[in-house]
Amino acid sequence: PRTTIIDCDPGTDDAVALWLALGSPELDVKLITVAGGNVGLDRTTANARAVVGLTGRDIPIVAGAERSLMAPFRAETAVHGNDGLGGVVLPAGPPLAPGIAADAIRDLLRASPPGSVTVIGLGPVTNLALAFATEPALVDRVQDLVLMSGAWSEGNITPAAEFNAWNDPEALAILLNLGLKVAIATLDLTFQAKVTPAVIEGLAAREGGACWRAALAILRALPMSRRMHHEGFPLHDPCAIAWVIAPDLFGVKEAEAEVDCTTGPSRGRTVIDRWNRLGRPANLALMETLDAPGFFDLLAARIAPLP
Ligand code: BDR
Ligand code: CA
Repeated sequence: PRTTIIDCDPGTDDAVALWLALGSPELDVKLITVAGGNVGLDRTTANARAVVGLTGRDIPIVAGAERSLMAPFRAETAVHGNDGLGGVVLPAGPPLAPGIAADAIRDLLRASPPGSVTVIGLGPVTNLALAFATEPALVDRVQDLVLMSGAWSEGNITPAAEFNAWNDPEALAILLNLGLKVAIATLDLTFQAKVTPAVIEGLAAREGGACWRAALAILRALPMSRRMHHEGFPLHDPCAIAWVIAPDLFGVKEAEAEVDCTTGPSRGRTVIDRWNRLGRPANLALMETLDAPGFFDLLAARIAPLP
């Protein structure tokens, strides 16, 4: 299995993504780091602890950024609820591990062989950017860097920008300039993973443990059809996990991207050159298409057997 670090801001879809990762034998999740984002850091850490606690697994969870590099985070309680889990109450999880996220990320990378660590970012990537910016040589330890971030078309938090990219554009810029091909699930991809009442009905036919029942409760709490005139709700973050464990579900192509770090109306926009109009070398493995039925089958197959 792949040695894996997950950096997240749970978050309804982060919670489902964590369960997908922890239910998948392809991944050996060695560290979970947490930032603020969807809700404040006090809530995102409590939620990460509760989500992991329900699996009975013992994985260090380390707190990190409570604000972005340049500004406070803006929360997204309209989507995730004031508690970040759509009002779904879980038993309190294990305590946080000591230390600070960026240090823990660097420690794990330093202790790992070259090209051996899968790093997955599901929120504003402040913690990951701090880790790599302060010890750039550790990039050689990375096998894959996988993010849910950005959009090549419309944003969701502003017309221009996706929520994670907008919450810390400078941090995302650092990651896009590491010399890696960042595997990225944009909104254009995650909008292919829409949870609808019919999808939930199909998933709910499967029996499972406490994690699966909690995941279904969270899916039912998603604010469907209330935003952006879409039917259903895109299950963003699990797409990034699925790419690592089941790449055959995705159509991927290389592309080049930069993120707008100006302070105008396009702040946080990911400008993705899908047709190489600028002639620059690729820095993305851009996920373009998703086999949605296969994706939801995978979710059920991996999460339902968890405790
Ligand atoms: C992203 O923003 C957050 O609200 C979700 O957890 C996801 O990571 C989607 O734009
Ligand atoms: Ca997230």
